[in-house]
Parts: sequence; C-alpha cells; structure tokens
Amino acid sequence: MARIGIFDSGVGGLTVHRAILERFPGLDTVYLGDTARLPYGTKSADVVTHYSLRNARFLSSRGIDLLVVACNTASALALPALRAALRIPVLGVVEPGARAAARATRGDRIGVIGTQSTISSGAYQQAIAAARPGAAVTARPCPLFVPLAEEGWTDPEDEVVRLVARRYLAPFLEARVDTLVLGCTHYPLLREAIGRELPGVALVDSADAIATEVAGLVGAPATGRVASHQFFVTDTPERFLAVAGRFLGRTVTGAEHVDV
Ligand code: DGL
Repeated sequence: MARIGIFDSGVGGLTVHRAILERFPGLDTVYLGDTARLPYGTKSADVVTHYSLRNARFLSSRGIDLLVVACNTASALALPALRAALRIPVLGVVEPGARAAARATRGDRIGVIGTQSTISSGAYQQAIAAARPGAAVTARPCPLFVPLAEEGWTDPEDEVVRLVARRYLAPFLEARVDTLVLGCTHYPLLREAIGRELPGVALVDSADAIATEVAGLVGAPATGRVASHQFFVTDTPERFLAVAGRFLGRTVTGAEHVDV
C-alpha cells in the first residue's frame, strides 16, 4: 500500500490531507508541519527551498512512496529542487491547480490568490499560461486570509471577514475574472466568504486539484482497510493540535515533535 508524505509550513496543509483522504480514506499518510519556521509565505526562494529540502529528507526517512508538497509557497518556489533531490515522485499544488483552472474557465479570465511569495514567484501565472495559452491572469497576494483562517474567523457574515475579503478581491471584480484559484492552503476555509464577493466566479481549490492527481498516481487502496496517519511538527505540538481540527475536519489526537 502506498504511503504518502505530505508537508506544509504548518497546519494549513491539512486541507490537502483532508482532500486526499476524502477520496481515499484507506491511504497511509505521514504529515510534517514545519511549525517552527512558518510562515513560508513571506520568505525568499532560497530559504523556502532550504526548509523544504529538510522536510522532504525527513519524510523520505519515514519510507514514503510519494511526496505531496501541500504548501503552495513551497510548491511555487522549491519544486525543481525537491524533484532533483528525491528519487520518488514529488507533486506540488501549483500545476494541478493551474490545470483545474484551465479546465474551469469559460471566458479565459483567471484570477489567482496566494501568499506574497507565491504570487511574486510567478509560478501560478506561468503554469496557467502553459495550461491555457491566451488566458488573461490577474494575481494578487491576500496575506491576511492566513491569520483569519487560523483564528477561526471564516464566517462570511462576520464584518471583519467581509471587509478583508472585499478589499482583497475588488481587483478581481474589476478584471472580470470568471475563475479564481485559491492558491494557499488556508483559503479553502474562507471559500464561502470569497465566493460571496465574487458571485458567479468558479473557485478552484488547489487542495482538491492535487487530490485528483494523487489518485491517478497511487490508485485506490482496498476498501475497509484501517489506514495509519502520523503527524509531526517542528515546534511543540500544542498550537498545531488546537487548530488542526478546523483544517482537517476532524480532531488530530497526537503529533510528535521532531527536529528536521
Ligand atoms: N502554507 C502556506 C501556503 O500555502 C501558507 C502559510 C505560510 O505562509 O506559511 O502558501
């Protein structure tokens, strides 16, 4: 049975973990949240690559068959280095997300939101151009969505959530995008609030998009199998455990501290 390694800068990658397990509850997973070094979204390519390689080496030492880079920032900045360093397949969220957007668009006007480093890397913009040449791409960072999601402030009726979403998303209304990529692990939690500001716009969840591609690589495990899920963090586990349930959709009962 395939064992999948998943890493993120912290807790957000659990949205990817959740999307994968919704399709294949029988898969074994090893998750690493680099909580000691987050956020990645404001850091340089060199630093994010350095951290990503350490995370990948740790997960490889746990005997994984496939590495999923759940963090959009790490996927945008470190994928070539990870692929060069590992002997197993490495999947990032950017390409699946871009391909899903290329399939979803009806008017060739695609928006992307992500962290500062993801957007300034141009990775989504390039991947969309490759998947859908000729599409107009509008890309903007939405950094405050990350702490809002971690704080649990995701209710679309909440005044703060509405104001932040309106301000960040106004350029996409102006650009008349018909599709928007949620290019950050935390944004699926704000899906409803984002959707309200952009009525009629197709929202592409990069977590869902990568889950579909994982399915193609590993195949379906036997049904009824009891899977094993291990969680590791680089800072003490308390904060991770307190927030994890919101991202994973169920309680995480234990996480082990590791130095990577
Ligand atoms: N996981 C990051 C991402 O998807 C968001 C949080 C961070 O900045 O570390 O880009």
